[in-house]
Amino acid sequence: QRSSAVAPLGAGLRFLITAGPTQEALDPVRYLSNHSSGKMGFALASAARALGAQVTLVAGPVHLPTPAGVERINVLSANEMLAACQAHQAQSDLFIACAAVADYRMATPAEQKIKKTASETLTLELIKNPDILATLAASSPRPFCIGFAAETQQVLEYAQQKLIRKNLDAIVANDVSDPSIGFGSDQNRVTLLWQDQQHQLQQQDWPATQKATLAHQLIARLITLYQ
Ligand code: CTP
Ligand code: CA
Repeated sequence: QRSSAVAPLGAGLRFLITAGPTQEALDPVRYLSNHSSGKMGFALASAARALGAQVTLVAGPVHLPTPAGVERINVLSANEMLAACQAHQAQSDLFIACAAVADYRMATPAEQKIKKTASETLTLELIKNPDILATLAASSPRPFCIGFAAETQQVLEYAQQKLIRKNLDAIVANDVSDPSIGFGSDQNRVTLLWQDQQHQLQQQDWPATQKATLAHQLIARLITLYQ
């Protein structure tokens, strides 16, 4: 044999990625959700696949095309997203939680359409959703767990707190106070935070970059951190 092909960076690795918003039913015709476009999570799935990895993408309700070669599981609620992730975690090496999961859902979704009443106010009782990322990070065996922290203030401080509190291997901090980047935009500007083997906090900054380009660079960096 005169030469052997170099294996792509992601060859042999299995990624589990969440993307998009979740949708929490209030009644049969209404829901609670958020403006997550899903673009970043889909770009990460596409980049991981392009680098030779096997990718399962658990997607909330977004109208984005499935990246070629990626296995997609569509879900609506946080509970459905958690169940899909738990069903795949044992077959995953890296878990990237990019979804904007609703923090709360209706305590008791109404079985029939909620009717308008004579009252000028309506109070809905909400209960906390499970934290999908923290749940997978606390399980054993666990995949290498990467979170996203979309913040509007004290971005790095809050991201660092989430890294520690959820026992993550890395977190991508994302300033969403600037509308030209982040939610809905094709660009993103992020900082990757992780702890080295001496538990020292490390960080790497990316300037505002197209989500597709950023996704490739992030996936490549996460693979080397994982290794
Ligand atoms: N996340 C999750 N399940 C939830 C909430 C969040 O998996 N129920 C994940 C997100 O996908 C993201 C990370 O946790 O990777 C951080 O999400 P974020 O909303 O920033 O953090 P929260 O812990 O929900 O705190 P807060 O919204 O109060 O900032
Ligand atoms: Ca949240």
